[in-house]
Amino acid sequence: MIRTISQTLPVSALIEQATQDIPGWSPQDQLLSLFTLAFGSTHLEGDILELGSWCGRSAVALGLAAKLSGKGTVHCVDLFPEKNDWYQNADGTYSFAVTLDGRKYGAYGEQTVWAAPYLRDIAPVYERYAGTLEAFNAAISWCDLTDWVKPFKGDLHKFASSAPPGMSVRLAFIDGDHSYSAVAGDIRLTEQFLRPGGWICFDDAFSSYDGVNEAIQKHIIESGRYQCCQQITRKLFVAQRRVS
Ligand SMILES: C[S@@+](CC[C@H](N)C(=O)[O-])C[C@H]1O[C@@H](n2cnc3c(N)ncnc32)[C@H](O)[C@@H]1O
Repeated sequence: MIRTISQTLPVSALIEQATQDIPGWSPQDQLLSLFTLAFGSTHLEGDILELGSWCGRSAVALGLAAKLSGKGTVHCVDLFPEKNDWYQNADGTYSFAVTLDGRKYGAYGEQTVWAAPYLRDIAPVYERYAGTLEAFNAAISWCDLTDWVKPFKGDLHKFASSAPPGMSVRLAFIDGDHSYSAVAGDIRLTEQFLRPGGWICFDDAFSSYDGVNEAIQKHIIESGRYQCCQQITRKLFVAQRRVS
């Protein structure tokens, strides 16, 4: 549906139209901010990395920036859980575990998903699609972004170990497991790809998740390795890697 793109059509309207039926949690101001950073960083070499794609909502905004600028592939790393990967914990909250190549990858074990959002936002996706990878692929294909957006089923560690040598990214968006240890690990793994001058962005920052806040505070703000550290929308935090 975004096959005919005019240079004078507002991107905000394009993103809104493209994402209106894609389940997910990124609000429009955040999607436009991600687009703007990806679109405005094309003077840097490198791709775009997303950790935590769900059904492709934020990936569409990033993919649109790659397509309109003609620069970079968007690598979307997610465990892409299927319905039967989810289980309920003793306290009524939910977590999931995905088995890949005989290895189990757990998520939301520490920062579990409360029952109400699970039933409201997650369960209905599995009524429409066999799994989130199917939902993601449908969204990317419908938006005509398959040449620009590439899903990777796994965690960031698995992605890093199979990434081509010398791969670099100009923008990374972290929106996976929200526990402190997971976010800290995702920052560490992302840093091996993030170019000097490149941007790292976080969803659910300084809103409701102590683990996300603590990891950003300690490993980004206080690290001395980043400048322009800024909360720019209600839950999106961005920082630019220093050049030296
Ligand atoms: C909040 S959702 C992402 C929402 C998406 N960015 C959007 O705009 O709607 C978080 C995603 O992170 C994924 N996830 C959680 N832990 C992960 C991990 N350790 N590795 C890869 N993906 C993970 C989940 O499968 C889920 O799709």
